[in-house]
Amino acid sequence: MTEPVYSPGLEGIVAGETAISTIAGGLSYRGYSIEDLARHASFEEVAYLILHGELPTAGELASLRERLGQSAKLPGEVIDVLRAVPHTTPMMDVMRSAASLLAHWDPDVSDNSHDANLRKAERLLAQLPVALAARHRLRKGKKPVAPDPKRSLADNLLWMLEGKAPSASFVKAMDVSLILYAEHEFNASTFTARVVCSTLSDMHSSISAAIGALKGPLHGGANERVMEVLEEVGSPKRAETWVRDALARKQRIMGFGHRVYKDGDPRARYLKSLCQDLAQEVGNTALEQTAEVIERVVTTEKKLPPNLDWPSARLYHYMGLPVDLYTPLFVVSRVTGWSAHVIEQLDNNRLIRPRARYTGPAPRAWVPVERR
Ligand SMILES: CC(C)(COP(=O)(O)OP(=O)(O)OC[C@H]1O[C@@H](n2cnc3c(N)ncnc32)[C@H](O)[C@@H]1OP(=O)(O)O)[C@@H](O)C(=O)NCCC(=O)NCCS
Repeated sequence: MTEPVYSPGLEGIVAGETAISTIAGGLSYRGYSIEDLARHASFEEVAYLILHGELPTAGELASLRERLGQSAKLPGEVIDVLRAVPHTTPMMDVMRSAASLLAHWDPDVSDNSHDANLRKAERLLAQLPVALAARHRLRKGKKPVAPDPKRSLADNLLWMLEGKAPSASFVKAMDVSLILYAEHEFNASTFTARVVCSTLSDMHSSISAAIGALKGPLHGGANERVMEVLEEVGSPKRAETWVRDALARKQRIMGFGHRVYKDGDPRARYLKSLCQDLAQEVGNTALEQTAEVIERVVTTEKKLPPNLDWPSARLYHYMGLPVDLYTPLFVVSRVTGWSAHVIEQLDNNRLIRPRARYTGPAPRAWVPVERR
């Protein structure tokens, strides 16, 4: 028998097959480049593409919007829990609990068939934004705002959070960020979802586990840490010294580097110009300048290009959103990719069970407790 391959962090290992997305030649979902999708599609069209495999016809898109509208509500008991959870609980922990709780009222919870999983995926896609917005308002002692069936998912998110109609440019920026966050091959949270469902567990368990994996600062949690970096730096004048000092201390600059994109993240490149437009609109060009200096120094000193979390944090900041909503917004989008991977895994399942290289003690003799 040949020695199994060992690669720390599974770097460079192909751990399965997928038809959902690829990073070969830039990122594409089901064959469509993310640039084309971000430029021309709505998030709902992209969610349909990721989940169903093809772009929707006008009729299919209208039916999806109708289904999402009908599912965009939470059982009263879930609202009660969202109200009762201590106000200091991190939003990502609440999102994880919400995904898990929603299982208890899902009519398809114990049905693991392809069609039932698609129904559950669409329901979670509709419900998680409602849970996010409801929790955000409840923790501030405000009443949740009901979704408006005439609004798109991105529009509704901002509407439910603020209780007032968002500007067209904010809706567009949110929509594009959701498209760019929707799917990314075998990243850590998606792989987590696949591992969970490969035991023939269910959709809600997989999504709850994926949210737990996304929360970490080396993955989705980075978009919140990016804002902390920008706040700490404070101004374009301080940026260069701050970064050089941080790099000298071997500090990781959040929002830079990527396991698979060594020459740059195409999503970050795309979002950067939208970010600059929004900064102009809200009159916060100083933050763009600060970001530009940091980007220049990290790229030249460490050869580390920015990842998607770098511009998305500023984008959400320009929309006036609190920092602890940034990673939950990633959840609201990525639930599409996670669900599609769960469905793909279960359609052709093989238990995911790798091996470990043993580094413990050599075999030794048993010692009774009184002699230890
Ligand atoms: C994403 C990430 C975990 C990928 O890491 P990886 O593929 O495991 O790469 P490594 O951690 O092995 O890093 C390789 C080298 O680059 C350095 N490095 C990687 N990311 C860095 C960063 N953001 N800032 C400073 N140095 C960084 C490491 O310290 C290491 O340096 P060394 O060789 O001198 O020890 C890593 O780049 C990171 O921590 N980035 C910040 C968090 C982030 O933005 N995450 C979101 C990803 S979409």
